[in-house]
Amino acid sequence: MALVTGAASGLGAATARRLAAEGATVMLTDIAVETGNVVAHEIEAAGGRAAFLSHDVTSEQDWPRIVATVIERFGKLDVLVNNAGIGGGRHELLTHEIEAWRRVLSVNLDSVFLGLRFAGPAIAVAGGGSVINISSILGKVGVADAAAYCASKGGVTLLTKAAALEWAPLGIRVNSVHPGFIDTPMVSGPLDDLENGDEIRNMIISRHPLARLGAAREIADAVLFLASDESSYISGAELVVDGGYTAQ
Ligand SMILES: NC(=O)c1ccc[n+]([C@@H]2O[C@H](COP(=O)([O-])OP(=O)(O)OC[C@H]3O[C@@H](n4cnc5c(N)ncnc54)[C@H](O)[C@@H]3O)[C@@H](O)[C@H]2O)c1
Repeated sequence: MALVTGAASGLGAATARRLAAEGATVMLTDIAVETGNVVAHEIEAAGGRAAFLSHDVTSEQDWPRIVATVIERFGKLDVLVNNAGIGGGRHELLTHEIEAWRRVLSVNLDSVFLGLRFAGPAIAVAGGGSVINISSILGKVGVADAAAYCASKGGVTLLTKAAALEWAPLGIRVNSVHPGFIDTPMVSGPLDDLENGDEIRNMIISRHPLARLGAAREIADAVLFLASDESSYISGAELVVDGGYTAQ
């Protein structure tokens, strides 16, 4: 039984589809209720087992309700994918508003803490399992004008390791995934809105030695691996899936 946050779009939707295709029952959650329900129905139509719940990952009230509903409907929870996140836009540090900073930290980092805090006990009761936190290459290396995003994803990298150490005795593995630039609405949306979007897209592509953006399915494959018994001796690790971006 897997819970995937931010599952209405992009990497979360691809991950939910991939896990369901491998036989997992998947609870999709998101603030985007309409599209989230559509993805869950598509999974069911393809023969998978899935359901959707409205869930704001920044809400301390939402998390216990979500976990309780999963247990009530499906009996247990083995896998948590903390995927929901936002880009937060470009901000120079000299003029960065604290509200914008807090929003990014809240959605990208506080959410992962809340997910661990409230889903962890249920995974422990199930006898252990796997938590996969979606960080970024920008949780390993910096980029200008994205201080809050980099700080939030760097926080996810180390929060993951702290949780892995704390929960090893409980049989809960905790790992992070670090995507390069992947072709999802988070990346393509802002580019499509720009007059020189193609130029910037090509510049981004040129920074990836494999010379293309990643596909959501390629991140879903990495999450599937970390969720499965094929990764049974891996905990506290950073799985980089970035077309070679951070090898340079
Ligand atoms: N696309 C990339 O290139 C890339 C690279 C590295 C890391 N990531 C990370 O991967 C994750 C998924 O990104 P994506 O590219 O699929 O983006 P996306 O915008 O396509 O999807 C993100 C989803 O998160 C949901 N969401 C946003 N705020 C939420 C909240 N408060 N509560 C619940 N759901 C919320 C959105 O509704 C959306 O469905 C994010 O954490 C992102 O930072 C993405």
